[in-house]
Amino acid sequence: MVEILDGKKLRDEILAELKLKIDMLDKKPSLCVILVGENPASKIYVNNKKKTAEKLGIKSVMINYPKSVTENELLEKIKELNNDVNINAILVQLPLPAHINCQNIISAISPIKDVDGFTPENLGKLFSGQTPYVYPCTPKGMLLLLDKYNIELDGKHVVIVGRSNIVGKPAAQMMLNRNATVTICHSHTKNLADITKTADVLISAVGEKLIEDNMLKPNCVVVDVGIFKDNSGKTRGDVEFDTVSRIASYISPVPGGVGPMTIASLMINTFELFMIQNKRSSGI
Ligand code: GUN
Repeated sequence: MVEILDGKKLRDEILAELKLKIDMLDKKPSLCVILVGENPASKIYVNNKKKTAEKLGIKSVMINYPKSVTENELLEKIKELNNDVNINAILVQLPLPAHINCQNIISAISPIKDVDGFTPENLGKLFSGQTPYVYPCTPKGMLLLLDKYNIELDGKHVVIVGRSNIVGKPAAQMMLNRNATVTICHSHTKNLADITKTADVLISAVGEKLIEDNMLKPNCVVVDVGIFKDNSGKTRGDVEFDTVSRIASYISPVPGGVGPMTIASLMINTFELFMIQNKRSSGI
C-alpha cells in the first residue's frame, strides 16, 4: 500500500513549532518579497507566502513592480533593502521578465538576507561543501518531508528530472550531501524511462505531465515538485498520481506535498536569517 507524503500536515507541525519560537521574541523577523509583473501563478505563491508569514508573526513587506520596471530600479531597491536594518530576508519571486538579467538581480542580494539561498555565495558554499546561511527552500522542504517519513537516502539512487537552479541543481547537491548516488535528467536526456526505472527515489521538477507507472521501479519513492493546471483547470503535478500510487511505496501529492513544505522552509529560513543577524542560535 502506498503511503502519502503529507506536506500539509508536516507544514502545520513545523509552523506551529516555529510560531512558539517567534512568539518568544520581542523583535519579530521580517521578510520582503519582490514581485515583478502580473504572472497569475507568481501572484498566488506570493500571497500564500504573505499570509503564512503574517500568521506566524513574521512581518511581511510586499513590493509589486509593473512588468516594465528596469533592472537598475530593481538593483537600487535591493541595495536599499540590504541596508535596511528592519528587513531580515529578501525574496525576488522568479521568473522575472526577459529584459531583466535574473542573475544580476540575485547576485545583488546580500548573502545574509538571501532567504532563497540563491546568491553565488550561498550556492557556492553549498556546492563546495561549506555551510550556506540557508538552503534553497524547495529542496530543503523535500528533505524535511523525506526525513519525517524516515526515508533513507544514504547509498540510494536518487534520480532528479529537471536541472533548474531553484530545484534540480541544489537538490542534487543536497542529496549528495546525504550520500545518495545522484543522476540529473533533463529535456535532452535520451531514454528517460531507462534511467527513472533505476531510481530508488524519483524527484520530478518539470511542470508537465511526464511520469507514468511504466517508468518506475516497484516500491520506489516518488516526489512530485511539478505544479500546473491541466486542460480542465485542475491543479496537478508531473506524476500520473493514480497509476503511480499502485507501484510506488511513497508518493507526494500535488497539491499538498512539496508546495506546503517550500513555504514552511521559507518561514524557517526567514527565522534563521533573523537569528543570524541578531547573533543568536536558531535551534532548528
Ligand atoms: N519561483 C518558483 N519557486 C521559487 C522559489 O523557491 N523562490 C523564488 N524566489 N522564486 C520562485
